[in-house]
Amino acid sequence: MKEFKMLINAEDKLGHIQPELYGHFSEHLGRCIYGGIYVGEDSPIPNIHGIRKDVVEAFKNISLPVLRWPGGCFADEYHWKDGIGEKSGRKKMVNTNWGGVVEDNSFGTHEFMELCELVGCEPYIAGNVGSGTVRELSEWVEYITFDGISPMAELRRENGRDKPWHLKYLGIGNENWGCGGSMGPEHYASLYKQFATFCKNYSGNELYKVACGPSGGDYSWTDSIMQGIKSMYGWNANAISLHFYCVPDWGSKGFALEFDEKGYYDVICCAAQMDELITRHTEIMNRYDPENRIALFVDEWGTWFDVEPGTNPGFLYQQNTMRDAVVAALTLNIFNRHSERVKMANLAQAVNVLQALVLTEGEKLIKTPTYHVFDLYKAHQGGDAVYCFSQNEPLRENSKAGVLSSSASVKEGRLTITIANCSLSEAAEISCEICSFEAKSASARILTDEVHAHNTFEAPDTVAITPHDVQLSGSQVKLTLPANSVVEVTVS
Ligand code: AHR
Repeated sequence: MKEFKMLINAEDKLGHIQPELYGHFSEHLGRCIYGGIYVGEDSPIPNIHGIRKDVVEAFKNISLPVLRWPGGCFADEYHWKDGIGEKSGRKKMVNTNWGGVVEDNSFGTHEFMELCELVGCEPYIAGNVGSGTVRELSEWVEYITFDGISPMAELRRENGRDKPWHLKYLGIGNENWGCGGSMGPEHYASLYKQFATFCKNYSGNELYKVACGPSGGDYSWTDSIMQGIKSMYGWNANAISLHFYCVPDWGSKGFALEFDEKGYYDVICCAAQMDELITRHTEIMNRYDPENRIALFVDEWGTWFDVEPGTNPGFLYQQNTMRDAVVAALTLNIFNRHSERVKMANLAQAVNVLQALVLTEGEKLIKTPTYHVFDLYKAHQGGDAVYCFSQNEPLRENSKAGVLSSSASVKEGRLTITIANCSLSEAAEISCEICSFEAKSASARILTDEVHAHNTFEAPDTVAITPHDVQLSGSQVKLTLPANSVVEVTVS
């Protein structure tokens, strides 16, 4: 057992944790939408207008704050008018990015906006820049948000929705350096300004526009975009995005369930790179935007393994273990610490794809270890991140990743501390001194198991949250974290 001291100063604020930092992503990819979120009204699976009730409940339970849709790569080949009106009349298309399957457009704008209303989350729509037109995107905004008399508002009414919806987040394209059009940064920045100009604020709705930012460590893209998207009228943008998948070697990703000790530590160390990526992209953003007006949205992140044997390679279906839980925990701690600039993050993806929150099979639904981490961390949403120091050790020789990962936040007189012990072999004994906070009681919840442990449709609760022992004496909290565990401590 190793001993570690921690120090928290509840008055030393690092940034406000916008709830959207705990956001998610749903793409027309594999079984994320069809079968995962949407089963159609005639399905025997309990649903509301075709939307699975169990998925809505699972999302609500973690206070899912924002959902990004319809892609991903799919966004830049999606034509929204194909997804409205009578379902029988909707155009079918080929989903060229994801398995070449037929997309019947039965889940479109109305269905997505209803899903967000049921969950109580903000919708985040990624518009088509790669193969769409300025008019198409501008009309989509009009269709969704305009309350008066106009061609698109009339069309929406003909399709059964009188009042407009509220739409805050609008992405102008997705990965336009790659699947979204293979563009250079200057070309994209010009297109960004053109598209953004015609996406208007109607009827009191205020759009928060997101420009396509870099992939991983592409710092020169960030530099060019921050230069390029500012026009003579100033910023017509509110954020740029960052995409980073935790893959140590794209040539040999390995399986979600089969890995050795090296496979575990490689993935954890890769995930820990998020800290340096955010720090360096933020430094560049600071040069162009010292007032911090443009946020960084990590709107795709997570683990990406080889698909489960026997499943469609284009569907990106993978299982999810305690290794994924530790990745989620340490990444969310990094986001909390950078919450001054990072205002949204979206795990890829919500259902049945990549590092999923939930997996479905017919009428069954299981919550993954990653889901439980979002449950453990949900109290951070809307809090203020505060100074949180912990003694640490490198996770392995020369690694920047530490054995411990932690963050803390304060909200409405409650202090939430989240800690991951990333070691596979040693427990950690923590003594945490809390300054500038009147601590009267403490409680804790834990997620821990053997690193390969996961939930299955036969044994859905193998990995689950349980209460955990914690002692409070004066201003000191003491607890033990078993190897490979994630803990939430609540002090009030
Ligand atoms: O999440 C899967 C894919 O990864 C998305 O469609 C794309 O944006 C990224 O490359």
